[in-house]
Amino acid sequence: MVDLDLDTSRTHVAVLISGRGSNLKALIEAGQRPEAPFDIALVISNRPGAGGLGVAEAAGIPSLVIDHKTFDGREPFERALDQKLNEAGVRLVCLAGFMRLLTPWFVERWRDRLLNIHPSLLPAFKGLDTHARALEAGVRVHGCTVHLVRAELDDGPILVQGTVPVLKDDTEGSLAARVLEVEHQAYPLALDLIVTGRAQLVDGRMAVDGAKAPTICWTNPQGSDDLDL
Ligand code: GRF
Repeated sequence: MVDLDLDTSRTHVAVLISGRGSNLKALIEAGQRPEAPFDIALVISNRPGAGGLGVAEAAGIPSLVIDHKTFDGREPFERALDQKLNEAGVRLVCLAGFMRLLTPWFVERWRDRLLNIHPSLLPAFKGLDTHARALEAGVRVHGCTVHLVRAELDDGPILVQGTVPVLKDDTEGSLAARVLEVEHQAYPLALDLIVTGRAQLVDGRMAVDGAKAPTICWTNPQGSDDLDL
């Protein structure tokens, strides 16, 4: 049993990780704002050595390892996850670099309360190696997407997208770093929108109320310096 000492006026959120946990850190910091409508109440990693466990510990957030390798199949693993989430009073679950496919059973159990961040502008570049594939495709704009999880991989209603330009000399690493910075803004924003009810599902899509949207669309490259436009 996880020992939790929580401010019950906030929505308790769990973050599932497998790796370094930089999005976890952004979510924890957002949850620590005095006015935050949510807090990160529990971190679960399926990998014992995940760097994000140190992030949780440094922030004093309860964390657990539930190692999928110690279970006989996906569903027993997910039942253990589900049990710990419920014991901790978790209302919403954020996947943040969680490298396990979830079964329809788990996804349905947490339907509309399960979020993911993906490092591309979905529905482009589902799956792995998104930055290399974006460079290969020659896209001029790339980014990240926070979405509700559905049973199909990297699919589901979109909450927030963040964009970055793709630059001429970009490598996979430089592009990944630029996208990651935007991820750290996009995920806390998406969580805030859903917890406060400003993002609502309407006909299978997320309608967002009361959030500012950019008023300008731009091009990459910009034409105005070179062309008489
Ligand atoms: C992020 O790029 C996220 O979009 C993807 O996995 C990566 C996790 O990074 N799903 P971190 O562990 O949050 O630093």
